[in-house]
Amino acid sequence: MRIILAPMEGVVDHLMRDMLTQIGGFDLCITEFVRVVDQLLPRRVFTRLCPELLNGGKTPAGTPVRVQLLGQEPEWLAENAARAVALGSPGVDLNFGCPAKTVNKSKGGAVLLKETETLYRIMQAVRSAVPAEFPVTAKMRLGFDDTSLALDNARALAEAGASELTVHARTKADGYRPPAYWPWIAEIRKVIAIPVIANGEIWQPADAQLCRQQSGSSDIMLGRGALAQPNLALRIRDGVPLLPWPQVLEMLMRYSEYEIAGDKGLYYSNRIKQWFSYLRLQYPQAEVLFQQLRLLRKSADIVLLLQQHLRQPA
Ligand SMILES: Cc1cc2nc3c(=O)[nH]c(=O)nc-3n(C[C@H](O)[C@H](O)[C@H](O)COP(=O)(O)O)c2cc1C
Repeated sequence: MRIILAPMEGVVDHLMRDMLTQIGGFDLCITEFVRVVDQLLPRRVFTRLCPELLNGGKTPAGTPVRVQLLGQEPEWLAENAARAVALGSPGVDLNFGCPAKTVNKSKGGAVLLKETETLYRIMQAVRSAVPAEFPVTAKMRLGFDDTSLALDNARALAEAGASELTVHARTKADGYRPPAYWPWIAEIRKVIAIPVIANGEIWQPADAQLCRQQSGSSDIMLGRGALAQPNLALRIRDGVPLLPWPQVLEMLMRYSEYEIAGDKGLYYSNRIKQWFSYLRLQYPQAEVLFQQLRLLRKSADIVLLLQQHLRQPA
């Protein structure tokens, strides 16, 4: 079984990857998407989103981090994929799942699921641009409005040379509403021979078990569940108990110690609020703290509040 940390734009940055892979249980991370339009992006765009490139393409804990690209132009995606790998990314992932409106207007993400032929051309161009020893992978939803092209799309990606495919088992129209249709992943697995990674709605170890049963995939990808329970991957793998709240608090404070260049002090406060919106799903203590924290803007005030809570008896 492999467990992969999902790409999450605006939430799972290199700091989050660092913390979650230190806790452990993950075999691979995928970055937030790099948006490709009509140029070869400079090195700094890649290293800003994926500073792990400066560390051999791995988090400090040693977990590989693969760069994800999003766009619609096969040639530009190919050139940028080659650059990402040249800079040290262990392969490239292509995003065919992002539902955001602005992304779809300029075609990228889930809207391409309406165009099987374009998926094929993109994958083929990127595959030929990236040296064969590096995986080129794709992440797709079941479709845009409906699932009518799910199998064709998966087949096209596999035939064009994808090394593996992650399936977020919902359409774009489903958004993030439960359920995730894990049995659909089993249908996709029947028509392609490459490894398929199952993704969507894995919040608890029992969900992982059911997802693996229903999808037939041993490999899974965790998104929001890993933010709600920072040790979810280890819980799934080894059956360890939920990380105690004081340890989560300490981790949140460590997060504040990272310096983010040029962020005007809002980076930490924004990101930590995002993180809390997931933690509160699992930890009642996070709900209480979130109500106080959401009113604060300065990182220093947030750290002070966390320290006060850490000192409180459980
Ligand atoms: C805030 C947010 C940002 C996301 N950003 C990306 C992204 O950059 N690339 C991508 O392929 N998927 C992205 N996704 C989708 C997730 O990777 C994942 O497929 C989805 O959340 C379902 O998994 P989950 O139920 O385990 O969270 C994002 C999801 C969320 C909630």
